[in-house]
Amino acid sequence: MLLGVNIDHVATLRNARGGKDPDVLEAAKICEACNASSITTHLREDRRHIKDEDVEQIKENIKINLNLEMAVTDEMQGIALRIKPHSVCLVPEKRQEVTTEGGLDVAGQLEKITNFVKPLIKAGIEVSLFIDPTEEQVKASAQTGAQFIEMHTGAYSNAYGTENEEVEFLKLKNSAKLAQELGLRVNAGHGLNYENVKRMHEIEGLYELNIGHSIISRAIFVGLEQAVIEMQNLVK
Ligand code: PXP
Repeated sequence: MLLGVNIDHVATLRNARGGKDPDVLEAAKICEACNASSITTHLREDRRHIKDEDVEQIKENIKINLNLEMAVTDEMQGIALRIKPHSVCLVPEKRQEVTTEGGLDVAGQLEKITNFVKPLIKAGIEVSLFIDPTEEQVKASAQTGAQFIEMHTGAYSNAYGTENEEVEFLKLKNSAKLAQELGLRVNAGHGLNYENVKRMHEIEGLYELNIGHSIISRAIFVGLEQAVIEMQNLVK
């Protein structure tokens, strides 16, 4: 399994004071040096953390893959087609939410998502759909032309260590299996930490995990390099 590191919260900290510190590009380079497979940034519509210049600089200055998380809007599609990240992950976005609370409703807007995906794929950008682990969303995702899904692991992460853990875990396991049978590659992420990530090895064929908050939080105490290496050791 590969580890993609989401560095949005380096930008959150930077933006708390304005200015340049901590430097987002430096964070990306440290993750790259620690053999992360990709850097993920979520360019939110309100630009609350990552800004357009961050995405441009990361794209220009790192060799590992840049995965751009973004909403299904014309503005974001234009930015992706201009910057050409290695991949985009389409996410639902609500202005007031603290983080991405649920998966993208692909089944409910199949035509819209299918049309949105087309020019991205034509431009050579891999497309991933961030969905809740349900049969309905997996089947719909397979019809869009996207190559990947990213399963939202938030419900599993919240249920970890409770009586609901198994139910939520099985949803991930079954969805990953179905998705692969339908020809999709499968990533996962959201809410994963140094403890609950271990069970991801029980899901066959998972390609990459995208992890942000727990790594950046740990980095405050042990440094980013150490935080990424510790997670790498659990993921690989
Ligand atoms: N994957 C997606 C699609 C996300 O939106 C996020 C959060 O921005 C993550 C992964 C990473 O989640 P976390 O920060 O909880 O590790």
